[in-house]
Amino acid sequence: MSARVIHTVAEARAAVAEAQKRGATIGLVPTMGALHAGHGSLIDTARRETDFVVVSVFVNPIQFDRKDDYERYPQDIATDAEFCSARGVDVVFNPRVEEMYPQPQRSFVEVEGVTEHLCGAFRPGHFRGVATVVLKLFNIVQPNRAYFGEKDAQQLAVIQRMARDLNLPIEIVPVALVRERDGLALSSRNRRLDAAERQAALMLSRVLFAVRDRIGAGSVDAAQLKREAEAEFGREPGLRVEYFEIVDADEMQPVERVAAPVRVAVAAFAGSTRLIDNVLCTPPAASH
Ligand code: PAF
Repeated sequence: MSARVIHTVAEARAAVAEAQKRGATIGLVPTMGALHAGHGSLIDTARRETDFVVVSVFVNPIQFDRKDDYERYPQDIATDAEFCSARGVDVVFNPRVEEMYPQPQRSFVEVEGVTEHLCGAFRPGHFRGVATVVLKLFNIVQPNRAYFGEKDAQQLAVIQRMARDLNLPIEIVPVALVRERDGLALSSRNRRLDAAERQAALMLSRVLFAVRDRIGAGSVDAAQLKREAEAEFGREPGLRVEYFEIVDADEMQPVERVAAPVRVAVAAFAGSTRLIDNVLCTPPAASH
């Protein structure tokens, strides 16, 4: 069956209310469209775990720190709707900017601490924009569960923190990152890469996997691991690394020693396209 594509808040509320009246549990997958197999995995998980699946497709202007990035963000609702229909989605919520922001937004959600490092340090206002639109979507759709990819590990940590801090009655479900066979993390931005840039981008997962192996083998000195990684990145002139950090898995604060599970995270430009990737690494002492 085709997913129903709706564009207004009122229609979204009505569709959800009707499903709730039947006793259905509601799953929400917030996206900005340009759907790929990574989103597919979020949708499939939501489909398995809830009765009525809503996928929001909304390119949220207030989370972009660069106007050109917003303007270049791929948008193709017809293809996204087909993608959702093939996966049994009930409703695609695709509001216009004026529907989500009918007047200038004056209320924002600020999640402190978790947003200090990694992308938060380089994209001013980004997580404020993400947390704000996600809370708006939660209030519109009122899901029982909402699904977020571990590809955006810091975003996931921000949403988990917001849900706890603000007592939201919603279970935030993390879903594992999906990679191409050669290791490249799936991202809507990958479609902007030319062949040379895509080749250069492979260095991201290569270095992350190498660091994960080193941590698995007992390396604990974060500064040393960072130096080794930076040397490796230096061999790839097609990449401009923005940050490479080893942070604790919940608070996203840089660690000096790897004594518990950590996220090793990187952001880099291949040409003008900014890519992020991360791996969760567990030191041998913490894995028993
Ligand atoms: O991850 C994304 O696609 C976006 O940041 C989100 C969560 C849909 C909010 O706009």
